[in-house]
Amino acid sequence: MEKRKLGNSDLHITRVGLGAWAIGGAWRWGWGHQEDKDSIAAIRRAVELGVNWIDTAAVYGLGHSEEVVGAAIKDMPANDRPYVFTKCGLCWDDRDNESREAYSCLKAPSVRKEAENSLKRLGTDAIDLYQIHWPNPNGDIEEAWTEMAKLKEEGKVRWIGVSNHTVKQMERLTKIAPVTSLQPPYNFINRTIETDILPYCQKNGIGTIVYSPMASGLLTGKMTPERIASLPDDDWRKQDYNYTEPQLSRNLKIVDAMRSIAEKRGVPAAQVAIAWVLKNPAVTAAIVGMRRPSQAEETVGAAGFALSDDEVESLNQVQNA
Ligand SMILES: NC(=O)c1ccc[n+]([C@@H]2O[C@H](COP(=O)([O-])OP(=O)(O)OC[C@H]3O[C@@H](n4cnc5c(N)ncnc54)[C@H](OP(=O)(O)O)[C@@H]3O)[C@@H](O)[C@H]2O)c1
Repeated sequence: MEKRKLGNSDLHITRVGLGAWAIGGAWRWGWGHQEDKDSIAAIRRAVELGVNWIDTAAVYGLGHSEEVVGAAIKDMPANDRPYVFTKCGLCWDDRDNESREAYSCLKAPSVRKEAENSLKRLGTDAIDLYQIHWPNPNGDIEEAWTEMAKLKEEGKVRWIGVSNHTVKQMERLTKIAPVTSLQPPYNFINRTIETDILPYCQKNGIGTIVYSPMASGLLTGKMTPERIASLPDDDWRKQDYNYTEPQLSRNLKIVDAMRSIAEKRGVPAAQVAIAWVLKNPAVTAAIVGMRRPSQAEETVGAAGFALSDDEVESLNQVQNA
């Protein structure tokens, strides 16, 4: 699979990486029931197919996603082990564990403690990329970043990046230490970052690993109104703006257009959605959520599948209609 250098780092990452949010299992922002054995099989299959990095976060499943990632990679030979990227800034305590909630904290001692806990759960000596999950509270991002730069100097993390940050916030952090990467949302129905964030990253050599390339499953062609209605109550998507009317019907017209391209080209519709984000030259790679081995098999091919300019234009026409 084609690899690209991530920002100023020495990491050469495949254009598709595995996103480990859904495999965290039940919590406030969970995706319904998830079996760990399916998650572990999905990770191993993705790695077999060439994926060389995993994105997780301490908060996904309140630590559980990191534990599952750690279990999946534990016995892999060092040369075959994927890079592991994780995030800090969303914490929980015993009280939160009962309600399965989390709270924001970017204070230095908290960031350090989070990194140490993540290292234990992942069973690794160093986190390949450590990211601030959300810039909350905004006034504390410099404090967190200064601590993350120290963790990098100590070798506990190899590179440092951010997620969900604005250009102004990245400018503030750059005064303290270089920002290796940004992790923003990007897919055909959420193109907000095209205006200023992607151009800023491209100009300043900041790698971009974009999340939710299939709009969390909506753009795969398999998400019908019937399936949405039958999603369990503990799947956050059931209440999401994009999954409810009137937005859902608009989105499903785009899905139909993607499905039509996919049928002509003989690939799963999910690959059309992922290939669309990868066509943007400012995008280093896409983080694709995979819960089962079959999802890895159906999506990884997007890294080698290019949409033509005419196909992209046909999608734009549906969006503008
Ligand atoms: N930094 C942040 O704030 C942030 C926010 C969101 C995501 N992320 C990261 O980005 C990753 C990916 O984002 P995402 O999980 O929201 O969205 P995504 O990659 O757009 O969608 C993933 C979901 O689509 C479904 N799916 C996957 N392959 C499929 C296939 N071949 N056919 C049909 N359905 C398929 C699966 O859910 P079902 O099978 O249940 O439908 C899967 O969980 C996350 O795991 C996380 O690492 C980060």
